[in-house]
Amino acid sequence: MDTPTLARHYPAHLARCQAIATEALVAAEADHLVISAGLEHYAFLDDQTYPFRANPLFKAWLPLNRHPGCWLIHTPGERPVLLYHQPRDFWHQPPADPAGYWTEAFDIRVIRDPAEVAQHLPGPAERSVLLGEGVEALVPGAQVNPQSVLHVLHWHRAVKSRYELACMRAANERAAPAHRAAREAFLEGAPEYEIHLAYLRACGHTDDELPYHSIVAVNEHAAVLHYQHREREPAPRRTLLVDAGADVGGYASDITRTWTAGDGEFADLVGALDDLQRGLCAEVRAGVAFGDLHRKAHQRIGQLLKETGVIRLDGEAAAAAGLTRYFFPHGLGHLLGVQVHDVGGQQADPQGTPAPPPEDYPKLRLTRRLEQDTVVTIEPGIYFIDMLLEELQASELAAEVHWPVVERLRPWGGIRIEDNVRADAGGHENLTRAWLP
Ligand code: GLY
Ligand code: MN
Ligand code: MN
Repeated sequence: MDTPTLARHYPAHLARCQAIATEALVAAEADHLVISAGLEHYAFLDDQTYPFRANPLFKAWLPLNRHPGCWLIHTPGERPVLLYHQPRDFWHQPPADPAGYWTEAFDIRVIRDPAEVAQHLPGPAERSVLLGEGVEALVPGAQVNPQSVLHVLHWHRAVKSRYELACMRAANERAAPAHRAAREAFLEGAPEYEIHLAYLRACGHTDDELPYHSIVAVNEHAAVLHYQHREREPAPRRTLLVDAGADVGGYASDITRTWTAGDGEFADLVGALDDLQRGLCAEVRAGVAFGDLHRKAHQRIGQLLKETGVIRLDGEAAAAAGLTRYFFPHGLGHLLGVQVHDVGGQQADPQGTPAPPPEDYPKLRLTRRLEQDTVVTIEPGIYFIDMLLEELQASELAAEVHWPVVERLRPWGGIRIEDNVRADAGGHENLTRAWLP
Protein backbone atom coordinates (compact mmCIF):
# COMPACT_ATOMS: atom_id res chain seq x y z
CA MET A 1 0.00 0.00 0.00
CA ASP A 2 1.28 3.44 -0.95
CA THR A 3 0.75 5.14 2.41
CA PRO A 4 2.04 8.62 1.41
CA THR A 5 -0.58 8.76 -1.36
CA LEU A 6 -3.33 7.74 1.03
CA ALA A 7 -2.08 10.23 3.63
CA ARG A 8 -2.04 13.05 1.06
CA HIS A 9 -5.59 12.43 -0.09
CA TYR A 10 -7.16 11.55 3.24
CA PRO A 11 -7.96 15.10 4.50
CA ALA A 12 -10.03 15.89 1.39
CA HIS A 13 -11.79 12.54 1.71
CA LEU A 14 -12.69 13.23 5.32
CA ALA A 15 -13.92 16.71 4.43
CA ARG A 16 -16.20 15.11 1.81
CA CYS A 17 -17.53 12.60 4.36
CA GLN A 18 -18.32 15.50 6.68
CA ALA A 19 -20.09 17.51 3.95
CA ILE A 20 -22.24 14.51 2.99
CA ALA A 21 -23.01 13.77 6.63
CA THR A 22 -24.10 17.37 7.12
CA GLU A 23 -26.42 17.10 4.10
CA ALA A 24 -27.84 13.89 5.58
CA LEU A 25 -28.48 15.56 8.95
CA VAL A 26 -30.48 18.29 7.22
CA ALA A 27 -32.67 15.56 5.70
CA ALA A 28 -33.33 14.15 9.17
CA GLU A 29 -33.61 17.55 10.91
CA ALA A 30 -30.98 16.44 13.42
CA ASP A 31 -27.71 17.85 14.79
CA HIS A 32 -25.39 14.88 15.34
CA LEU A 33 -24.59 11.78 13.38
CA VAL A 34 -23.39 8.88 15.54
CA ILE A 35 -22.06 5.92 13.57
CA SER A 36 -21.31 2.54 15.12
CA ALA A 37 -18.36 0.55 13.83
CA GLY A 38 -20.45 -2.55 14.49
CA LEU A 39 -20.69 -4.99 17.35
CA GLU A 40 -19.58 -8.62 17.66
CA HIS A 41 -22.34 -11.20 17.05
CA TYR A 42 -22.50 -14.48 18.91
CA ALA A 43 -23.77 -17.69 17.36
CA PHE A 44 -26.99 -19.00 18.87
CA LEU A 45 -26.44 -20.65 22.27
CA ASP A 46 -22.71 -20.33 21.80
CA ASP A 47 -19.81 -18.26 23.07
CA GLN A 48 -18.23 -18.06 19.60
CA THR A 49 -18.62 -14.95 17.50
CA TYR A 50 -19.21 -14.75 13.75
CA PRO A 51 -16.39 -13.17 11.75
CA PHE A 52 -16.70 -9.42 12.31
CA ARG A 53 -17.96 -7.28 9.41
CA ALA A 54 -17.62 -3.56 10.00
CA ASN A 55 -20.56 -1.22 9.46
CA PRO A 56 -19.89 0.07 5.93
CA LEU A 57 -21.18 3.51 6.95
CA PHE A 58 -18.34 3.64 9.49
CA LYS A 59 -15.48 2.32 7.42
CA ALA A 60 -16.31 4.75 4.61
CA TRP A 61 -14.79 7.37 6.96
CA LEU A 62 -11.56 5.76 8.09
CA PRO A 63 -9.56 2.58 7.60
CA LEU A 64 -10.70 0.71 10.71
CA ASN A 65 -12.46 -2.47 9.71
CA ARG A 66 -11.40 -4.79 12.57
CA HIS A 67 -12.62 -2.59 15.39
CA PRO A 68 -15.99 -3.55 16.88
CA GLY A 69 -17.39 -1.21 19.51
CA CYS A 70 -15.95 2.04 18.13
CA TRP A 71 -18.08 5.07 17.24
CA LEU A 72 -17.81 8.16 15.09
CA ILE A 73 -19.61 11.35 16.03
CA HIS A 74 -20.12 14.06 13.44
CA THR A 75 -21.41 17.48 14.35
CA PRO A 76 -21.39 20.05 11.52
CA GLY A 77 -18.51 22.51 11.82
CA GLU A 78 -16.72 20.52 14.54
CA ARG A 79 -13.78 18.16 14.60
CA PRO A 80 -15.08 14.60 14.29
CA VAL A 81 -14.95 12.49 17.44
CA LEU A 82 -13.73 8.90 17.37
CA LEU A 83 -14.67 6.80 20.37
CA TYR A 84 -11.94 4.19 20.19
CA HIS A 85 -12.94 0.91 21.80
CA GLN A 86 -10.09 -0.70 23.69
CA PRO A 87 -11.68 -3.21 26.06
CA ARG A 88 -9.79 -4.43 29.10
CA ASP A 89 -9.83 -8.03 27.95
CA PHE A 90 -7.07 -10.53 28.70
CA TRP A 91 -8.86 -13.35 26.81
CA HIS A 92 -8.32 -11.56 23.52
CA GLN A 93 -5.80 -9.15 22.07
CA PRO A 94 -7.31 -5.66 22.39
CA PRO A 95 -6.78 -3.26 19.47
CA ALA A 96 -3.47 -1.41 19.48
CA ASP A 97 -3.43 2.33 20.13
CA PRO A 98 -4.71 4.30 17.14
CA ALA A 99 -1.92 4.99 14.65
CA GLY A 100 -1.57 6.19 11.10
CA TYR A 101 -2.15 9.09 8.74
CA TRP A 102 -5.81 9.48 9.69
CA THR A 103 -5.48 9.86 13.45
CA GLU A 104 -4.65 13.56 13.61
CA ALA A 105 -7.98 14.47 12.01
CA PHE A 106 -10.00 13.13 14.95
CA ASP A 107 -10.67 13.95 18.55
CA ILE A 108 -9.92 10.42 19.75
CA ARG A 109 -11.30 9.21 23.08
CA VAL A 110 -10.68 5.71 24.38
CA ILE A 111 -13.73 3.82 25.66
CA ARG A 112 -13.80 0.45 27.43
CA ASP A 113 -17.39 -0.44 26.53
CA PRO A 114 -19.49 0.47 23.47
CA ALA A 115 -22.29 1.63 25.80
CA GLU A 116 -20.10 4.58 26.86
CA VAL A 117 -21.28 6.33 23.69
CA ALA A 118 -24.20 7.79 25.65
CA GLN A 119 -21.74 9.78 27.84
CA HIS A 120 -20.10 11.35 24.79
CA LEU A 121 -23.18 12.61 22.96
CA PRO A 122 -22.63 16.29 22.22
CA GLY A 123 -26.35 17.10 22.52
CA PRO A 124 -29.67 15.58 23.45
CA ALA A 125 -30.38 12.05 22.19
CA GLU A 126 -33.49 13.39 20.42
CA ARG A 127 -31.25 15.54 18.18
CA SER A 128 -28.96 12.61 17.28
CA VAL A 129 -29.12 10.08 14.49
CA LEU A 130 -27.66 6.67 15.27
CA LEU A 131 -26.40 4.45 12.45
CA GLY A 132 -25.70 0.81 13.10
CA GLU A 133 -27.10 -2.58 13.94
CA GLY A 134 -28.37 -3.56 17.38
CA VAL A 135 -27.48 -0.19 18.93
CA GLU A 136 -30.97 1.20 19.71
CA ALA A 137 -30.78 0.51 23.43
CA LEU A 138 -27.44 2.32 23.80
CA VAL A 139 -28.87 5.78 23.07
CA PRO A 140 -32.59 5.77 23.96
CA GLY A 141 -34.49 8.54 22.20
CA ALA A 142 -32.20 8.87 19.16
CA GLN A 143 -33.43 8.35 15.61
CA VAL A 144 -32.01 5.02 14.46
CA ASN A 145 -31.10 4.34 10.83
CA PRO A 146 -33.64 6.76 9.34
CA GLN A 147 -34.15 6.14 5.62
CA SER A 148 -33.80 9.85 4.83
CA VAL A 149 -30.20 9.75 6.11
CA LEU A 150 -29.34 6.40 4.56
CA HIS A 151 -30.56 7.54 1.14
CA VAL A 152 -28.24 10.56 1.15
CA LEU A 153 -25.22 8.57 2.34
CA HIS A 154 -25.84 5.68 -0.05
CA TRP A 155 -26.34 7.96 -3.03
CA HIS A 156 -22.99 9.69 -2.62
CA ARG A 157 -21.05 6.48 -2.10
CA ALA A 158 -21.15 5.81 -5.86
CA VAL A 159 -18.66 8.60 -6.59
CA LYS A 160 -15.22 7.98 -5.15
CA SER A 161 -12.79 10.50 -3.68
CA ARG A 162 -9.13 10.45 -4.68
CA TYR A 163 -8.36 8.68 -1.43
CA GLU A 164 -10.91 5.99 -2.16
CA LEU A 165 -9.59 5.55 -5.69
CA ALA A 166 -6.08 5.12 -4.29
CA CYS A 167 -7.38 2.40 -1.93
CA MET A 168 -9.21 0.67 -4.77
CA ARG A 169 -6.22 0.76 -7.11
CA ALA A 170 -4.16 -0.77 -4.31
CA ALA A 171 -6.84 -3.42 -3.68
CA ASN A 172 -6.56 -4.40 -7.34
CA GLU A 173 -2.77 -4.44 -7.15
CA ARG A 174 -2.98 -6.69 -4.10
CA ALA A 175 -5.31 -9.20 -5.75
CA ALA A 176 -3.44 -9.49 -9.06
CA PRO A 177 -0.56 -11.77 -7.95
CA ALA A 178 -3.08 -13.92 -6.09
CA HIS A 179 -5.03 -14.52 -9.30
CA ARG A 180 -1.78 -15.48 -10.98
CA ALA A 181 -0.90 -17.82 -8.12
CA ALA A 182 -4.32 -19.46 -8.35
CA ARG A 183 -3.81 -20.07 -12.07
CA GLU A 184 -0.37 -21.59 -11.43
CA ALA A 185 -1.78 -23.92 -8.80
CA PHE A 186 -4.57 -24.99 -11.15
CA LEU A 187 -2.15 -25.71 -13.98
CA GLU A 188 -0.06 -27.79 -11.58
CA GLY A 189 -3.12 -29.92 -10.85
CA ALA A 190 -4.12 -28.57 -7.43
CA PRO A 191 -7.73 -29.06 -6.26
CA GLU A 192 -9.97 -26.08 -5.40
CA TYR A 193 -8.94 -26.12 -1.74
CA GLU A 194 -5.24 -25.80 -2.57
CA ILE A 195 -5.93 -23.17 -5.23
CA HIS A 196 -7.76 -21.16 -2.62
CA LEU A 197 -4.82 -21.44 -0.21
CA ALA A 198 -2.44 -20.33 -2.97
CA TYR A 199 -4.66 -17.29 -3.52
CA LEU A 200 -4.68 -16.38 0.18
CA ARG A 201 -0.94 -16.80 0.53
CA ALA A 202 -0.21 -14.59 -2.47
CA CYS A 203 -2.38 -11.69 -1.32
CA GLY A 204 -1.57 -12.09 2.37
CA HIS A 205 -5.18 -12.24 3.57
CA THR A 206 -6.87 -14.67 5.90
CA ASP A 207 -10.31 -15.85 4.79
CA ASP A 208 -11.98 -13.41 7.18
CA GLU A 209 -10.07 -10.46 5.78
CA LEU A 210 -11.24 -10.98 2.21
CA PRO A 211 -13.87 -8.53 1.00
CA TYR A 212 -16.12 -11.49 0.09
CA HIS A 213 -16.05 -15.27 0.07
CA SER A 214 -13.85 -16.19 -2.90
CA ILE A 215 -15.34 -18.29 -5.68
CA VAL A 216 -12.83 -20.96 -6.69
CA ALA A 217 -14.57 -23.16 -9.20
CA VAL A 218 -13.08 -25.94 -11.31
CA ASN A 219 -14.84 -27.37 -14.39
CA GLU A 220 -18.63 -27.71 -13.99
CA HIS A 221 -18.48 -25.72 -10.73
CA ALA A 222 -17.78 -22.66 -12.88
CA ALA A 223 -21.47 -22.85 -13.87
CA VAL A 224 -22.52 -22.14 -10.27
CA LEU A 225 -22.60 -18.35 -10.12
CA HIS A 226 -21.64 -18.04 -6.44
CA TYR A 227 -20.05 -21.49 -5.96
CA GLN A 228 -19.12 -21.67 -2.28
CA HIS A 229 -17.28 -24.97 -1.64
CA ARG A 230 -13.65 -26.08 -1.95
CA GLU A 231 -13.25 -29.54 -3.43
CA ARG A 232 -10.35 -31.37 -1.77
CA GLU A 233 -9.86 -34.00 -4.47
CA PRO A 234 -8.00 -33.14 -7.68
CA ALA A 235 -10.14 -33.22 -10.83
CA PRO A 236 -9.21 -33.53 -14.50
CA ARG A 237 -8.19 -30.01 -15.47
CA ARG A 238 -10.43 -28.13 -17.86
CA THR A 239 -11.53 -24.75 -16.46
CA LEU A 240 -10.74 -22.59 -13.46
CA LEU A 241 -13.00 -19.65 -12.60
CA VAL A 242 -11.72 -17.51 -9.73
CA ASP A 243 -13.85 -14.60 -8.53
CA ALA A 244 -11.90 -13.09 -5.66
CA GLY A 245 -10.70 -9.73 -4.44
CA ALA A 246 -8.54 -8.08 -1.84
CA ASP A 247 -8.94 -5.34 0.75
CA VAL A 248 -7.01 -2.13 1.23
CA GLY A 249 -8.20 0.33 3.85
CA GLY A 250 -11.62 -1.34 3.89
CA TYR A 251 -12.06 -0.99 0.10
CA ALA A 252 -12.64 -4.02 -2.09
CA SER A 253 -11.49 -5.22 -5.42
CA ASP A 254 -13.80 -7.71 -7.14
CA ILE A 255 -12.05 -9.57 -9.93
CA THR A 256 -12.87 -12.65 -11.97
CA ARG A 257 -10.63 -14.55 -14.33
CA THR A 258 -11.39 -17.77 -16.15
CA TRP A 259 -8.47 -19.94 -17.22
CA THR A 260 -8.38 -23.11 -19.29
CA ALA A 261 -5.88 -25.95 -19.10
CA GLY A 262 -5.50 -26.27 -22.85
CA ASP A 263 -6.53 -24.94 -26.22
CA GLY A 264 -9.73 -25.71 -28.07
CA GLU A 265 -13.27 -24.53 -28.58
CA PHE A 266 -13.88 -23.47 -24.98
CA ALA A 267 -10.52 -21.69 -24.68
CA ASP A 268 -11.44 -19.77 -27.86
CA LEU A 269 -14.73 -18.79 -26.27
CA VAL A 270 -12.86 -17.51 -23.19
CA GLY A 271 -10.62 -15.41 -25.45
CA ALA A 272 -13.60 -14.02 -27.34
CA LEU A 273 -15.46 -13.14 -24.14
CA ASP A 274 -12.31 -11.44 -22.87
CA ASP A 275 -12.27 -9.26 -26.02
CA LEU A 276 -15.97 -8.55 -25.60
CA GLN A 277 -15.43 -7.58 -21.96
CA ARG A 278 -12.63 -5.16 -22.88
CA GLY A 279 -14.92 -3.57 -25.44
CA LEU A 280 -17.57 -3.00 -22.77
CA CYS A 281 -14.99 -1.56 -20.36
CA ALA A 282 -13.95 0.88 -23.08
CA GLU A 283 -17.51 2.21 -23.18
CA VAL A 284 -17.58 3.11 -19.50
CA ARG A 285 -17.61 6.87 -19.16
CA ALA A 286 -19.42 9.60 -17.25
CA GLY A 287 -22.93 10.07 -18.60
CA VAL A 288 -23.48 6.46 -19.70
CA ALA A 289 -26.66 4.80 -18.42
CA PHE A 290 -25.49 1.46 -17.02
CA GLY A 291 -28.71 -0.23 -18.13
CA ASP A 292 -27.85 0.61 -21.76
CA LEU A 293 -24.44 -1.01 -21.39
CA HIS A 294 -26.09 -4.09 -19.88
CA ARG A 295 -28.38 -4.38 -22.93
CA LYS A 296 -25.41 -4.05 -25.28
CA ALA A 297 -23.67 -6.83 -23.36
CA HIS A 298 -26.62 -9.13 -24.00
CA GLN A 299 -26.65 -8.35 -27.70
CA ARG A 300 -22.91 -8.94 -28.03
CA ILE A 301 -23.00 -12.14 -26.00
CA GLY A 302 -25.86 -13.28 -28.23
CA GLN A 303 -23.73 -12.60 -31.29
CA LEU A 304 -20.79 -14.47 -29.78
CA LEU A 305 -23.02 -17.45 -28.99
CA LYS A 306 -24.20 -17.43 -32.57
CA GLU A 307 -20.66 -17.28 -33.95
CA THR A 308 -19.65 -20.14 -31.64
CA GLY A 309 -22.52 -22.20 -32.98
CA VAL A 310 -24.45 -22.38 -29.71
CA ILE A 311 -27.56 -20.57 -30.98
CA ARG A 312 -29.16 -19.79 -34.34
CA LEU A 313 -30.43 -16.24 -33.71
CA ASP A 314 -28.36 -13.11 -34.29
CA GLY A 315 -27.26 -11.18 -31.21
CA GLU A 316 -29.97 -8.56 -31.20
CA ALA A 317 -32.72 -11.05 -31.88
CA ALA A 318 -31.37 -13.41 -29.20
CA ALA A 319 -31.32 -10.63 -26.62
CA ALA A 320 -34.78 -9.39 -27.58
CA ALA A 321 -36.21 -12.92 -27.38
CA GLY A 322 -34.73 -13.45 -23.90
CA LEU A 323 -32.51 -16.28 -25.15
CA THR A 324 -29.26 -14.74 -23.87
CA ARG A 325 -30.61 -14.65 -20.31
CA TYR A 326 -30.30 -18.45 -20.14
CA PHE A 327 -26.55 -18.16 -20.70
CA PHE A 328 -25.92 -14.83 -18.93
CA PRO A 329 -28.41 -14.66 -16.05
CA HIS A 330 -26.81 -11.95 -13.89
CA GLY A 331 -26.26 -8.23 -14.29
CA LEU A 332 -23.33 -6.73 -16.17
CA GLY A 333 -21.97 -5.20 -12.98
CA HIS A 334 -22.51 -3.16 -9.87
CA LEU A 335 -21.12 -0.35 -7.78
CA LEU A 336 -18.00 -1.21 -5.81
CA GLY A 337 -16.40 0.35 -2.73
CA VAL A 338 -16.40 -0.46 0.97
CA GLN A 339 -18.87 -3.19 0.06
CA VAL A 340 -18.38 -5.56 -2.81
CA HIS A 341 -21.94 -4.91 -3.92
CA ASP A 342 -21.95 -1.28 -2.94
CA VAL A 343 -25.24 0.36 -2.08
CA GLY A 344 -27.27 2.95 -3.97
CA GLY A 345 -27.26 1.25 -7.37
CA GLN A 346 -31.04 1.39 -7.72
CA GLN A 347 -31.57 4.95 -6.47
CA ALA A 348 -32.64 7.81 -8.74
CA ASP A 349 -31.56 10.63 -6.39
CA PRO A 350 -30.28 11.37 -2.86
CA GLN A 351 -33.88 11.41 -1.61
CA GLY A 352 -34.16 7.70 -2.35
CA THR A 353 -36.56 7.68 -5.28
CA PRO A 354 -36.33 4.08 -6.49
CA ALA A 355 -34.75 3.29 -9.86
CA PRO A 356 -35.75 -0.37 -10.16
CA PRO A 357 -34.24 -2.72 -12.74
CA PRO A 358 -36.10 -3.19 -16.01
CA GLU A 359 -38.66 -6.01 -16.08
CA ASP A 360 -36.66 -8.09 -18.55
CA TYR A 361 -33.46 -7.80 -16.46
CA PRO A 362 -34.57 -8.05 -12.81
CA LYS A 363 -31.07 -8.99 -11.60
CA LEU A 364 -29.46 -5.73 -12.69
CA ARG A 365 -28.09 -4.13 -9.50
CA LEU A 366 -27.10 -0.84 -11.10
CA THR A 367 -29.62 1.29 -13.00
CA ARG A 368 -27.94 4.68 -12.57
CA ARG A 369 -26.18 6.91 -15.02
CA LEU A 370 -22.43 6.85 -14.33
CA GLU A 371 -20.80 10.01 -13.01
CA GLN A 372 -17.19 11.14 -12.98
CA ASP A 373 -15.32 8.76 -10.60
CA THR A 374 -18.08 6.22 -10.22
CA VAL A 375 -16.43 2.80 -9.90
CA VAL A 376 -18.26 -0.22 -11.28
CA THR A 377 -17.53 -3.80 -12.14
CA ILE A 378 -17.85 -4.99 -15.72
CA GLU A 379 -18.43 -8.73 -15.58
CA PRO A 380 -20.07 -10.39 -18.55
CA GLY A 381 -20.38 -14.16 -18.43
CA ILE A 382 -21.43 -17.20 -20.43
CA TYR A 383 -22.50 -20.25 -18.45
CA PHE A 384 -23.88 -23.71 -19.09
CA ILE A 385 -26.15 -24.05 -16.06
CA ASP A 386 -28.06 -27.33 -15.88
CA MET A 387 -31.14 -25.80 -14.27
CA LEU A 388 -31.46 -23.03 -16.87
CA LEU A 389 -30.67 -25.33 -19.78
CA GLU A 390 -33.51 -27.61 -18.64
CA GLU A 391 -35.85 -24.62 -18.64
CA LEU A 392 -34.59 -23.55 -22.04
CA GLN A 393 -35.10 -27.02 -23.44
CA ALA A 394 -38.72 -26.94 -22.27
CA SER A 395 -39.34 -23.47 -23.71
CA GLU A 396 -40.34 -22.34 -27.19
CA LEU A 397 -36.77 -21.06 -27.69
CA ALA A 398 -35.38 -24.62 -27.61
CA ALA A 399 -35.40 -24.80 -31.40
CA GLU A 400 -33.00 -21.82 -31.55
CA VAL A 401 -30.25 -23.78 -29.79
CA HIS A 402 -27.73 -26.21 -31.26
CA TRP A 403 -27.90 -28.72 -28.45
CA PRO A 404 -24.92 -30.86 -29.51
CA VAL A 405 -22.70 -27.76 -29.15
CA VAL A 406 -24.14 -27.07 -25.70
CA GLU A 407 -23.41 -30.67 -24.71
CA ARG A 408 -19.82 -30.33 -25.92
CA LEU A 409 -19.20 -27.15 -23.91
CA ARG A 410 -21.14 -28.06 -20.76
CA PRO A 411 -18.23 -29.88 -18.99
CA TRP A 412 -16.27 -26.61 -18.92
CA GLY A 413 -18.96 -24.98 -16.78
CA GLY A 414 -18.78 -21.30 -17.58
CA ILE A 415 -16.81 -18.12 -18.03
CA ARG A 416 -16.82 -14.79 -16.26
CA ILE A 417 -14.34 -11.97 -16.80
CA GLU A 418 -14.59 -9.14 -14.30
CA ASP A 419 -12.68 -5.87 -13.96
CA ASN A 420 -13.11 -2.79 -11.78
CA VAL A 421 -13.54 0.31 -13.90
CA ARG A 422 -13.70 4.03 -13.12
CA ALA A 423 -15.87 6.31 -15.22
CA ASP A 424 -14.25 9.49 -16.41
CA ALA A 425 -15.61 12.39 -18.46
CA GLY A 426 -13.29 11.51 -21.32
CA GLY A 427 -13.23 7.74 -21.01
CA HIS A 428 -12.43 5.14 -18.41
CA GLU A 429 -9.70 3.80 -16.16
CA ASN A 430 -9.43 0.05 -15.77
CA LEU A 431 -8.19 -0.45 -12.20
CA THR A 432 -7.70 -4.18 -12.75
CA ARG A 433 -5.94 -4.49 -16.11
CA ALA A 434 -3.26 -2.17 -14.81
CA TRP A 435 -2.07 -5.18 -12.77
CA LEU A 436 -3.64 -8.25 -14.36
CA PRO A 437 -3.90 -8.51 -18.16
N1 GLY B 1 -18.02 -11.40 -6.45
C1 GLY B 1 -19.43 -11.27 -6.69
C2 GLY B 1 -19.68 -10.47 -7.88
O1 GLY B 1 -18.90 -10.47 -8.80
O2 GLY B 1 -20.62 -9.74 -7.96
MN1 MN C 1 -18.86 -8.32 -9.09
MN1 MN D 1 -16.89 -10.91 -8.55
